[in-house]
Amino acid sequence: MSKIIVGNWKMNGSKALVQDFAQNLKEASLSSVAVICPSFPMIAIAREAWPSEVALGAQDCSPLPQGAHTGDVSALQLRDAGAAYVILGHSERRQEHNETPELIASKIEAALATGLTPIVCIGESEAIYEAHQTVSFLKDQIRSFATLLERAKAEARPFYIAYEPLWAIGTGRLPSLEEIEQIHAALFEEIGLAPLYGGSVKLENFEPILKLEHVGGLLVGGESLKTEKFVSMLSR
Ligand code: PGA
Repeated sequence: MSKIIVGNWKMNGSKALVQDFAQNLKEASLSSVAVICPSFPMIAIAREAWPSEVALGAQDCSPLPQGAHTGDVSALQLRDAGAAYVILGHSERRQEHNETPELIASKIEAALATGLTPIVCIGESEAIYEAHQTVSFLKDQIRSFATLLERAKAEARPFYIAYEPLWAIGTGRLPSLEEIEQIHAALFEEIGLAPLYGGSVKLENFEPILKLEHVGGLLVGGESLKTEKFVSMLSR
């Protein structure tokens, strides 16, 4: 089965970038399952402009179904705009918006209830990594949404977990291939899913990571904004 590559545009991009991707995607023959997660305003525009084999995702959703919640966006609205996936629990949201494990679990529940596929991010700080506590920390993070994961598995619903070491995000520093494989294998043994890897993935380094046995795919930040590079990553 092809592995999945997810682009996370974060708070970047524009209508012009959506059109730029549309041009590049026209000639591309994709070899991975491709998902791009732009900011909310670009989702519906991209759904119109891009071929259907590129799926759309959001970077967050409300845990609530609708109502008087100014500034929030529901899972159903994301579906309506053309999203099929949603990134939840990204470390930037955990840090900048104080998202708790309980809140993230309720967002996962809302996504699943609406038929969106969750991509849930987990990852350790540099201090935890240095202390060799990574795997137990990640298992703890997973525990806070394990019931939802088990339910999704029992119902044969897709569910992704992305392992993103905090110290590797946007820094150009990555764990070694051996470390990535070791951590992913330990998580696979626990949850029966091969996590995606994220953090400083580039066109130059992605191939050996994607080939690792227990890496189910990649979550790509900065490099996913570079049209040609990202399309060529999706096509190899
Ligand atoms: P990066 O970000 O690829 O720019 O390191 C990854 C992410 O935060 O999803």
